[in-house]
Amino acid sequence: MLETESAAFVSRHARSHALAGRGKGHWLAGVPMHWMSDWGTPFPMHVAAAQGAELEDVDGNRYADFCLGDTGAMFGHSPPAVTAALTAQARRGLTTMLPGEDATVAGELLAAQFGLPFWQMAQTASDANRSVIRWARAITRRPAILVFDQCYHGMVDDAFVRLEAGTVRNRPGLVGQATDLAVNTRCVEFNDLAAVESVLKARDVACILAEPVMTNAGMVLPDPGFLDALGRLARRHQTLLAIDETHTLSSGIGGYSRVARLEPDFFIAGKAVAGGFPCAVYGFTAEVEERIRGMLASKPPGHSGIGTTLAGNPMAMAALRACLEHVMTPAAYTHMLAMAERLEDGLEQLVDAERLPWHVQRVGARLEVGFTREPPRTGRQSIDKLPSLLPDAIRLYLLNRGLLITPFHNMMLMSPVTPAASVDRLASAWAQCVNELRRIAGPAGTSKS
Ligand SMILES: Cc1ncc(COP(=O)(O)O)c(C=O)c1O
Repeated sequence: MLETESAAFVSRHARSHALAGRGKGHWLAGVPMHWMSDWGTPFPMHVAAAQGAELEDVDGNRYADFCLGDTGAMFGHSPPAVTAALTAQARRGLTTMLPGEDATVAGELLAAQFGLPFWQMAQTASDANRSVIRWARAITRRPAILVFDQCYHGMVDDAFVRLEAGTVRNRPGLVGQATDLAVNTRCVEFNDLAAVESVLKARDVACILAEPVMTNAGMVLPDPGFLDALGRLARRHQTLLAIDETHTLSSGIGGYSRVARLEPDFFIAGKAVAGGFPCAVYGFTAEVEERIRGMLASKPPGHSGIGTTLAGNPMAMAALRACLEHVMTPAAYTHMLAMAERLEDGLEQLVDAERLPWHVQRVGARLEVGFTREPPRTGRQSIDKLPSLLPDAIRLYLLNRGLLITPFHNMMLMSPVTPAASVDRLASAWAQCVNELRRIAGPAGTSKS
């Protein structure tokens, strides 16, 4: 299937092919970010335009977009309110190093939407996570952090570890890392409270950095009660809990934390939080703010080392305000969740009817197909069972039929403007794809056992 679908892709993407060839002359791997060449297509598809829940490539092919920039465009491409705010602000200055009215209003909106009183800006979720780790270390005066095996929190050195046979090591494949990250990073399996407790008991962990649902190793849901117990353990050992909601903002208004009534010390969100404009935020409790203020007042003069010049620029503040006021609304989530449930039903029916040894996971508007009968409980279980070629073949099959899902895994995301007809088209394309896989596999593959 990969061969057939690759040939079909080549025949429909002449202009992308030409641009990709030229790109090789001046970009590493031919693309502005080297991983853009890792989509599993023979060469990177080049985009002409993206609008709402649709994307058009430079060859004029159109796609129902369920990748949505791997969450950056979760609220649709170029939401009109955000585009209007950006257009107006662009005439009034792009970057100033000072706040304006949008900053004041956005702070109030963040507090109202996510329930934490104090906020800071960053330009990416990676930056926000790095800042949170630094603040947590500074106010607890502890060196270590705790993350879960197979986590991903962006370009955050401290989090690039793996658990291998009980030992924490630098993540395989990491380049240019001269530090042994295990010195200050602890790592345990998701859903393993006993392991969390044994780490926290040492009382040297400043913060736990965690997604409430693991979304970067397939999708791993928390056991019932796991996150509440994690919070209790953190409090008992005076470790701060930092919940990275960059992807789980899909859960509903206020993110997973609000939906599940978690009480994190820090809350991090990037990617979609300003409607796709580069921007990230992190919030914290009044107690954390007081400790930060106290620490800043007593520290020696000089750079804190936290912050970048362009974060909090007026364009980002305008986009953030517009997104919180007009785009990230209860009505938007109602549609996103309804579309996600619709797809979930369709895919679950397919899995049952075809007796596929697969499962479907969902966190709000975000779905993932896993290629095991039972859903994984840890990142390791999820990664170990990932077939090597099947996901690539399925993604390419769908892409050739005008349906874009996320590379590297099978995430499918619903926006407030995703039409039901596109969702139904995606569900039936999965069914056709399964049929095609059975046909190619021959008599053994047609057995429903
Ligand atoms: C959970 C999570 N946090 C943070 C990040 C980093 O986001 P960015 O690449 O925008 O910095 C990612 C990126 O995929 C992520 O999945």
